Amino acid sequence: MAPQQWESKIHFGPASGDNGPFPHLAEDVRRGLTRIPKELPPKYFYDARGSALFEQICELPEYYLTRTERALLTQIAGEVVASCRPVTLVEFGSGSCRKTRILLDAMARRGLLDCYVPIDLNEDVLRQTAQALSEDYPGLRVQGVIGDFEQPVEILPTGGPRLVTFLGSTIGNLTHDGAIGFLRNVARLLAPEDRFLVGTDLVKDVRVLERAYNDAAGVTAAFNRNILSVINKHLDGRFEPNRFEHLAFYNKEDSRIEMHLVARQSHQVSIDAIDLTVEFARGESIRTEISCKYTSAMVEAMLAEAGLRLLRWDTDKDRLFALSLSTLLH
Ligand code: SAH
Ligand code: TRP
Repeated sequence: MAPQQWESKIHFGPASGDNGPFPHLAEDVRRGLTRIPKELPPKYFYDARGSALFEQICELPEYYLTRTERALLTQIAGEVVASCRPVTLVEFGSGSCRKTRILLDAMARRGLLDCYVPIDLNEDVLRQTAQALSEDYPGLRVQGVIGDFEQPVEILPTGGPRLVTFLGSTIGNLTHDGAIGFLRNVARLLAPEDRFLVGTDLVKDVRVLERAYNDAAGVTAAFNRNILSVINKHLDGRFEPNRFEHLAFYNKEDSRIEMHLVARQSHQVSIDAIDLTVEFARGESIRTEISCKYTSAMVEAMLAEAGLRLLRWDTDKDRLFALSLSTLLH
């Protein structure tokens, strides 16, 4: 499909097609809820309500990830931009783009900033942020791409050098194979002068990790249950979200937080649009999310497996979170 021109300086494309915001929802829900154990792909958290809840999560006192990553970015943005002199910023899973502005500012200060390419599934959030950024950065070209970053993403040619980012430890929400597949797609996009910056949450005290996904205000629980509302809305599902309990715990063996929705009683749920009835035993769970936690060796090994070489590693003084800058291996 031809890129859609939306406003003079803002371009969108390629669009996701005619199947609404979640083109594979029906098949993914059928597959996930008929397998044992049950699971759902986390990308379906992010409708308008889910994206708003995620923004609230980022501000929670227990959720140290966002503020730690923001502080790190503020600290290193100048040096990163000075060393690779990017004119284009490409961002996967851009969401509200709040941290992005730190990098855009660093590029603008050096007179480099020309083009920003946010890539996200959520078209509404993408359009709002693209509009806001093009107003706040005069002369900036914004080329939004509505798409799934787990698929090879088609990006319109833009000038280089480019800085490609994947923030928020969103990489941790992919399986190991998914993460390697993603990184290989990134490596395919990169020219030798381009750089890739990825944010990863680090292995740490289990209590700190588990608190971040079990906040006292219950925002994460609401976010978790929202995936059931997405199914209700888009597939005529009959889930009653409150029949499920939010469960998040650290799985040490796999070095990851797992999030589940656990049925409080045994019951059946019909999902009319896909003609499916799902049985839940009491205590049976749907795994809705994984969030992998890394060491520097794990990040470096993953990058190498995908053909990328670590150039710099930055972490905060408490070693909570890290930013890794990399380039093509060869
Ligand atoms: N980068 C932001 C947002 C992280 S939340 C931050 O660090 O705060 C994850 C974002 O990725 C959401 O905006 C969500 O819509 C998007 N997303 C999740 N899965 C995706 C997928 N498979 N393809 C494209 N975008 C996805
Ligand atoms: N990338 C974020 C993380 O792994 C996503 C996230 C934060 C999240 N809180 C969540 C996903 C709660 C699901 C539920 O931390």
